[in-house]
Amino acid sequence: MSLQAVGVLGTGKYVPERVLTNHDLENMVDTNDEWIVTRTGIRERRIASPEQASSDLAYEASKIALNKAGIAPEEIDLIIVATITPDMSFPSTACILQDKLGAKKAAAFDLSAACSGFIYSLANATNFIATGTYKYALVVGAECLSKITDYTDRNTCILFGDGAGAVVLGPVAEGRGFKSFELGADGTGGDLLKIAGGGSRCPASPQSLEGKQHFIYMAGAEVFKFAVRIMGSAAEDALRKAGIAKSEVDLLVPHQANIRIIQSALQRLDLSEDKCMINLDKYGNVSAASIPIALAEADEEGRVKEGDCIVLVGFGGGLTWGASVLIW
Ligand code: UT7
Repeated sequence: MSLQAVGVLGTGKYVPERVLTNHDLENMVDTNDEWIVTRTGIRERRIASPEQASSDLAYEASKIALNKAGIAPEEIDLIIVATITPDMSFPSTACILQDKLGAKKAAAFDLSAACSGFIYSLANATNFIATGTYKYALVVGAECLSKITDYTDRNTCILFGDGAGAVVLGPVAEGRGFKSFELGADGTGGDLLKIAGGGSRCPASPQSLEGKQHFIYMAGAEVFKFAVRIMGSAAEDALRKAGIAKSEVDLLVPHQANIRIIQSALQRLDLSEDKCMINLDKYGNVSAASIPIALAEADEEGRVKEGDCIVLVGFGGGLTWGASVLIW
C-alpha cells in the first residue's frame, strides 16, 4: 500500500490576555527576575481567566488554523487534543472542542503524553491520513497550567503558563510533509514530574487537597539532566530516520521549557540560535501547547517557507519524548 504524504495545511495559536511577569512573581514567592531569566530564559507568561478552560483556548487557536487551511469544521475527520489540563476527566477536551467547532463528523480523543503530547498526537493523526483512513485532522496542544500550579512553590510556579496551538493536517504533494517521527518513553522516571492526586490511585479527598497533590510536582534538576540528554538525541534520531543531515535543517522548533535546555540541543545539532524558534521569554513552559504555539508564531512571522526543513522536538512527564522532521 502506498502512503499519502501528510503535512500542515494551517496553524493557529491563542494565548490569554493576562500577563504574569517575573516582577509579579517577586511579590508572590521568594524569587527575583534575574534568577528566573538567567536560569530559565522566561520573562513573563500568560494566565487564563477563571472562566477559561483548555477547550476555550483550543477553540480560539483551532478557528485560526482552520481558517488559514481553508478547511471548514464539517470537513474535519479527526480531532486530537494533547493536554494534561483537560476541562474535566471526561468527556474529553477533544469532544468538547468538536462540539464548540461544530465538527460533526470528526472522531475525537485526548492524548496524554505531557509536554511530548503534541508530537505524539501529530504522529497519530499523520498515520490515519497517510493510510487513507481520514483526510483532514485537527491536532491541538492546549493547556491551563496555571490551574494546576502551586503559586507558593518557587521551584515550579515561575515556569508555567497557559495557551493553545493548533494545526490542520491533510494530504500534501509527494516530497513534502512529515518525513519521520521518533517517539519514546521511560516510565521508570514517572515520579520526577507528576500530579499525584485526583486519579484512581489517590482520588480527591480533604487529605489530598491538604497535601497539595493536585498541583504539579517536579524534581527540576533531574528532569533538566534528562532533557539535556534526550532533546539532542531524539532530534538526531528523527533526522537519521528521515535521511536528512543536520546541516539541512532550516528551523528547530523545540519544547519551550528552559533556554539552557534549548541551547544544549542546538549545540548537539550544530545549529545557531537564529535557526531556532524561541518564545519562552513571553509564554514560559506551556507543556503540550509550547511546540504548536511556537510553530504557529514562526508561521505568522514568516520564518517558515515552502520546502524548509523543520525539526520539532520535545520531552516531558512520563517520562516521554518525541521528535519529527517536517518539510514545509
Ligand atoms: O516541560 C517539562 C518539564 N520541566 C522542565 O523542563 C524543567 C527542567 N528543570 C529546570 O528547568 C531547572 O531545573 C529549574 C529551572 C527548574 C531549576 O534550575 P536549576 O538550575 O536546576 O536550580 P536548582 O533546582 O538546582 O536550584 C538552585 C538553587 C537552589 O538553592 P540552593 O539549594 O542552591 O540554596 C534553589 O532553592 O536555586 C534555588 N531556587 C530559586 N531561587 C530563586 C529554586 N527556584 C528558585 C526561584 N528563585 N524561583
